[in-house]
Amino acid sequence: MASRGNFSNRIGFIAAAAGSAVGLGNIWRFPYETGENGGAAFLLIYLICMVLIGFPVMVGEISIGRHTQLNAFGAYKKLGGQKWGLLGYWGILSAIMFLSVYNVIAGWAFAYFIQIIGGLLAHTKDFGSHFTNQIADVSDLFFYSLGFMAITAFIVSRGIQKGIETASKVLMPALFIMLLGLIGYSFTLPNAMDGVQYYLVPELSEITVKTVYDALGQAFFSLSLGMAALVTYGSYISKNENIVSSAALVTITDTAVAFLAGLLIFPMVFSQGLSPSEGPGLVFVVLPGIFASLGLMGPIIGALFFLLLCFAALTSTISLLEIPVTFLVDEKKFSRTKVVLGTALLVFLIGIPSMLSQGAVDFFSNFLFYEGKTKAVLDIVFDIFSDVGLPLGGFLMTIFIISKWKMKNFNQELATGNPTYMGSFMQKYLNFILTYFAPAFLGIMFVLTILKKFFDISFF
Ligand code: PHE
Repeated sequence: MASRGNFSNRIGFIAAAAGSAVGLGNIWRFPYETGENGGAAFLLIYLICMVLIGFPVMVGEISIGRHTQLNAFGAYKKLGGQKWGLLGYWGILSAIMFLSVYNVIAGWAFAYFIQIIGGLLAHTKDFGSHFTNQIADVSDLFFYSLGFMAITAFIVSRGIQKGIETASKVLMPALFIMLLGLIGYSFTLPNAMDGVQYYLVPELSEITVKTVYDALGQAFFSLSLGMAALVTYGSYISKNENIVSSAALVTITDTAVAFLAGLLIFPMVFSQGLSPSEGPGLVFVVLPGIFASLGLMGPIIGALFFLLLCFAALTSTISLLEIPVTFLVDEKKFSRTKVVLGTALLVFLIGIPSMLSQGAVDFFSNFLFYEGKTKAVLDIVFDIFSDVGLPLGGFLMTIFIISKWKMKNFNQELATGNPTYMGSFMQKYLNFILTYFAPAFLGIMFVLTILKKFFDISFF
């Protein structure tokens, strides 16, 4: 196994897996989803989804990876035969497609960071039109996205320990410090407490099936579940590690960062009397406007915020790139450096239609019509490979464990490195959730989502 590499120890794995989990999903997507779904009510359902679905699915994925010490395809094939190998292929394909759009959005964050430190946003008055122009201006974004992918590729090419683990161990603590500093500042703003109240005091009447559906999708997105990212990272941990406690720490870290991102953003939004339901533009339109009103502190706070966003995105893009890379290194025995270069370039090219779909090229910007609106390529890729694909991947993984790998073997893997696991409450909990609750719930949600998204049939 020496040539595959491995995480040096438990902390290395946790830093990398938490790095994968903490990303744009926490700082960009979670606040706008919360803002569109009534604030605290969404937060509550989200937390329930993390405990009842997210954490058990994460344990499932890591255990499959650790047991086989193989890439997503190899792992499912080894345990389930050629047919189940397809689930691994689906994960790898999802990672490639997902990364192709994720990297475009990371490019936006990178662009904002560079513009703020270059003083280029100092005279901007209307941040709404700045954002619209910015995401349509591909002459610029092309290089920011390419740059982001190049940094990702550089880290991944250095391997599991020297690249991914080292980067995560630096970026994650830095991210925490910036986040806490920014929250401290945000709380000093006038009316900050209105934002805190919106965020923490739930209006239970706001909860609908849509809240549950959005919270579930957000949990998968944020925990990096459903596309074998954690099968891949799990394949690099040693048999002495305790999977359950590692997964618990990753889940807690991810939830904490999303929670803190809300504590940072809502007080800022409410201090200016602005609306939290701005959608994907929330951190790119509303926040820069707020930074601009902060006088001398503005550019500093703004630069820190976008640097934070870039750091978070980077530890996620490296985990996404690692999924196809591990596959090609394991199965085809290609050299890591060549594979990384080739894959990164390919993913970047696949992302170009998405990049062009934000106003630059009409054809890509209004590509299809469903869910009552025209959809850009970028939205379609996220719809298929995130909103629909990730919970589907999670659902199929639970079916795989129950019907093919079997609970007994799953339990045995978890008991390795965790002597008190057998017979514990945790064992009963995970077995119950993965055998009954998760497949039933994810199966129903999948059907409802397909009907609503693509056939306009809605039960809620
Ligand atoms: N979890 C990452 C985020 O929150 C995104 C991601 C999804 C990364 C799936 C890897 C795999 O931004």
